[in-house]
Amino acid sequence: REVELLGSVVAERKRRVAAVIEDVERSLATPTALLRSIADAMVTEMERGLRGDIHAQLKMLISYVDNLPTGDEHGLFYALDLGGTNFRVLRVQLGGREKRVVKQQYEEVSIPPHLMVGTSMELFDFIAAALAKFVDTEGEDFHLPEGRQRELGFTFSFPVNQTSISSGTLIKWTKGFSINGAVGEDVVSELSRAMERQGLDMKVTALVNDTVGTLAGGRYNDNDVVAAVILGTGTNAAYVEHANAIPKWTGLLPKSGNMVINTEWGSFKSDKLPLSEYDRVMDFESLNPGEQIYEKMISGMYLGEIVRRILLKLAHYASLFGDIVPPKLEQPFVLRTPDMSAMHHDSSHDLKILGSKLKDIVGIADTSLEVRYITRHICDLVAERGARLAAAGIYSILKKIGRDKIPTGESKMPRTVVALDGGLYEHYKKFSSCVEATLTDLLGDEASSSVVAKLANDGSGIGAALLAASHSQYAEVD
Ligand code: GLC
Repeated sequence: REVELLGSVVAERKRRVAAVIEDVERSLATPTALLRSIADAMVTEMERGLRGDIHAQLKMLISYVDNLPTGDEHGLFYALDLGGTNFRVLRVQLGGREKRVVKQQYEEVSIPPHLMVGTSMELFDFIAAALAKFVDTEGEDFHLPEGRQRELGFTFSFPVNQTSISSGTLIKWTKGFSINGAVGEDVVSELSRAMERQGLDMKVTALVNDTVGTLAGGRYNDNDVVAAVILGTGTNAAYVEHANAIPKWTGLLPKSGNMVINTEWGSFKSDKLPLSEYDRVMDFESLNPGEQIYEKMISGMYLGEIVRRILLKLAHYASLFGDIVPPKLEQPFVLRTPDMSAMHHDSSHDLKILGSKLKDIVGIADTSLEVRYITRHICDLVAERGARLAAAGIYSILKKIGRDKIPTGESKMPRTVVALDGGLYEHYKKFSSCVEATLTDLLGDEASSSVVAKLANDGSGIGAALLAASHSQYAEVD
């Protein structure tokens, strides 16, 4: 009798595990036809955003960057990059067309978590202090002409309503930042005031989103870069638009005829998106419920958390980790995306790395091989959905600018480069290969042979410095 009972308990557990997995597979599925209709919906939202429709989900922010770097930029410039879990300071000596980047140095500082949810003054003081310290270490290799003020490109990776190339107000926080009183404020004045408090004499000549910085940095190295995508803590894209295709732009038509648009695609939502119960609850419990839905399905801040929630369901409903639910697994965000990536990439026969990660994260030492395979499968499902959705986004931008197919009457599509950056893209190989494979699939053989996805490592820092150079207060004199 006992054996019989035990047998039926085991069978019931197995049935429950299988039921949850099937349900997850169904709710995270992204068939190619669905991706195509998501891309179409994104194009429609882009058009609404460009018209200035206040209900548009994609804000399509005007960057005031109407000229991308040419290679002629020269002089000493600083950049400061704020927006993820780290912030970076950088200085670069630009040598013009011949010498290009003569020398660059950077430093990375991680942001103490309490500053992400503290006051705006604390955050900016912390940043300005780190910047001042960095400026103090400027060596002989860097040269600032007599009597000139140092200039800075500020990469601020949040949605900003720009009022000029060097000013703009914060629309909202994203990615785990939530600081009272900062929304609606001019971020450049806040930084400038903090720099003054540090006794640092420096002028912000360009304020850019990380996507715009990456686009500028990408273009400096490759003339065919038309768009930039960040896949990191958050996700977003910027691209070069014809100024006359931006009905809400009321300024003069730029000489170049172009304007870089920051799409803020992270805030896209649509009933076409394959949202599961795990996504809904995660969103509900997040700092910004109802917002950044597309970002929450794709980016590095959230992927590990979605996996954790699925594992937790398996623990509760199907006793995946035995009779008790591991208490650690109840803790939001214990499973970070880099850990998920390590588990996902474990290809050893006994999934040893995965096992030791589970031990660290969940606190269970002796997981069975079956449990490890299930965990890897969940990582695979969540990463694949994110990567495929990201590819649909890239495809939608290519569609918007007519680089998704060979133009009528021509035999070839022009070479088209998308610059990509962000830790998720750079370090999570299965994720980035899936983005690329899906994009190829969506574009088809002919068009995809002209499209290149290129890693632009720290393009945004150098890009901001380049834009600071082209908007320098001394540009005319030079
Ligand atoms: C978030 C921000 C956006 C940024 C992106 C990538 O989506 O809102 O401005 O570009 O993260 O860092």
